[in-house]
Amino acid sequence: MKAVVFAGTRTVTVEDVPDATLEEPSDVVIRVTSSAICGTDLHMYDGRTGAEPGLVLGHEPLGVVEEAGPAVEMVKPGDRVVIPTHLYCGVCVNCAKGLSAACLRVRPGGFGAAYGYAGMGGYRGAQAELLRVPFADANCVPVPGEPGDALEDDFVLLADAFVTGWHATELARVFAGSTVAVFGAGAIGLLAAYSSLLKGAAEVYVVDGVTERLDKAGELGATPVDFRQGDPVERIRDLRRAGGLPIGEESMCGVEIGIDAVGFQARDREAPERENPMQVIDDLARLVNPTGHVGVIGVYAEKDLHPAPGGHADGRLTVPWATFFSKGVSVGFGRTHDRRYTVLLRDLILSGRARPSVIVTHHGGLDDAPDLYRAFDERADGVIKAVLRP
Ligand SMILES: NC(=O)c1ccc[n+]([C@@H]2O[C@H](COP(=O)([O-])OP(=O)(O)OC[C@H]3O[C@@H](n4cnc5c(N)ncnc54)[C@H](O)[C@@H]3O)[C@@H](O)[C@H]2O)c1
Ligand SMILES: [Zn+2]
Ligand SMILES: [Zn+2]
Repeated sequence: MKAVVFAGTRTVTVEDVPDATLEEPSDVVIRVTSSAICGTDLHMYDGRTGAEPGLVLGHEPLGVVEEAGPAVEMVKPGDRVVIPTHLYCGVCVNCAKGLSAACLRVRPGGFGAAYGYAGMGGYRGAQAELLRVPFADANCVPVPGEPGDALEDDFVLLADAFVTGWHATELARVFAGSTVAVFGAGAIGLLAAYSSLLKGAAEVYVVDGVTERLDKAGELGATPVDFRQGDPVERIRDLRRAGGLPIGEESMCGVEIGIDAVGFQARDREAPERENPMQVIDDLARLVNPTGHVGVIGVYAEKDLHPAPGGHADGRLTVPWATFFSKGVSVGFGRTHDRRYTVLLRDLILSGRARPSVIVTHHGGLDDAPDLYRAFDERADGVIKAVLRP
């Protein structure tokens, strides 16, 4: 089968690799119809998080069951399914609690696993024609319709991007009436903003420095804030004051809720050609109001082969804990417990209340992967979210 393979820093190739096959009775193999490229793939592409050359990339697949092992009960060949990024067994204590990204049975010596992801269990990736899905009864989420129909791009975003955006709003406790600032207008930040709006947030600001991405935030109904035009914290405070803060609430001119959808490869605002892994956390510490909440959904890697100034190879950072402490701000971190949200968000799509596919900008075949990775990495050609159709 054809697959997208990490070949070295900023190089992916499209290669023939052995077909994915059933390895356990509880596996299925799916034929992938859509497979999205994610900001997480870029951390590997940039040579930062220790991916080994030869790794088949990709963790956001939608497809059709091709073959099912004898122990699989819930799906059969021909069924259309989306596969959550973080695979899980479905029955260990963490899975039973709905904490599927911390499954205890998918990565010996660790917890949680993902397809095509350095250090996350060695599972082959989904930017390929076929994918082996372990514990298939738990991991296959059925979706209606036919491959290539009008909901293809909506459903593929259920594998990771939409559920991660939603998870960010859960970590940060967004609810109706919330005032929210999202840093990062990639697919994840945009869908965190979109999820906030779906939940009835009163005001949603989205900070980035890429024009097309800021425009998309505006299209979704959020207020774009361009960090190239100055300190986004001051800008958001000014906008909130200009909107008219009630008497007695003037000092609450920040936001109640902050979301980091950037992670450890954040740009330094003073010198955007450089990374500053503390930039977003520092900004959020200043911006979030006393008693507010922060959700960190951008990745902070435990292994960074080339840390930027201020960062460390093991991911240690200097962060303003004292500010969070004195403000009484809660901070939630982590990977998405996909399965908590997949079915609910699928049903929001089916009812017509959610159309996350508005953030998909590019399509291609597997052979287009090298060009799409390059453009996405450079935030060029308007690429926000690219979907491969193997
Ligand atoms: N927790 C999870 O389960 C999970 C799942 C998927 C992705 N992620 C992570 O979420 C992050 C975003 O993913 P994506 O696909 O949207 O990636 P992306 O690279 O497309 O988006 C990141 C955006 O952040 C912007 N940015 C950089 N520095 C900034 C700064 N100082 N202030 C504001 N914006 C800044 C960039 O311009 C870019 O638009 C990545 O770190 C990714 O690994 C986490
Ligand atoms: Zn992803
Ligand atoms: Zn489990």
